[in-house]
Amino acid sequence: MSEEIPQTPSSIPKIGEKAPDFTAVTTHGELTLSEWQGDSWVVLFSHPADFTPVCTTEFLAFTERFDEFQKRNVKLIGLSIDSIHSHMAWMNNIREKTGVTIPFPVIADLDMNVAKKYGMLHEAESTTATVRAVFIIDPDRVVRALVYYPLNAGRNMDEILRLIDALQTVDKYGVACPANWKPGDMVIVPPPKTVNELEERLSGNYDEKIDFYLIKKKL
Ligand code: BEZ
Repeated sequence: MSEEIPQTPSSIPKIGEKAPDFTAVTTHGELTLSEWQGDSWVVLFSHPADFTPVCTTEFLAFTERFDEFQKRNVKLIGLSIDSIHSHMAWMNNIREKTGVTIPFPVIADLDMNVAKKYGMLHEAESTTATVRAVFIIDPDRVVRALVYYPLNAGRNMDEILRLIDALQTVDKYGVACPANWKPGDMVIVPPPKTVNELEERLSGNYDEKIDFYLIKKKL
């Protein structure tokens, strides 16, 4: 007989939807997402538990790149289903052992209010710990991207920053970003939606043209 895997209906905010608002206790005091966010982008990320090795490496990695998030007008906020006392003890321990002060707030989501709103509990993996979720939320509080990692594999800061760069480039220039795109690479001219645009794509001068639907240009 196969083992029963829990299947709990969970609401996961989807790309394009408004990110659910919440008020939560954090290591920087109580805050409400919509007020705290201001006109910034937000990376809301969950980790499984305090005082665990992979999570500690992630907190150090987020802190190491903190300036780069700030340069992109991005605020970081962490979350786990641990108490505020546990968070503070862990932050203190990280500082004592590594000399690193964690500069962003961490939500103590003991009642799982935020974790449930953001579908961060994947019960087949764990009913007590959040998976490694990453929500990229734009200044209009719209979910622009979400990524979920399992408990036992840490996240890649280069990829999170690259994704933010891609989203901000898409917004600024009305283009799309190809596979493996990074800042400085050519971008994709959106495929035509009208016959006039089709003519323009066929006759126009571009930096790289494979066909009318795959055209790249330098920014
Ligand atoms: C970790 O951060 O090392 C970890 C947390 C929960 C489960 C497995 C690993």
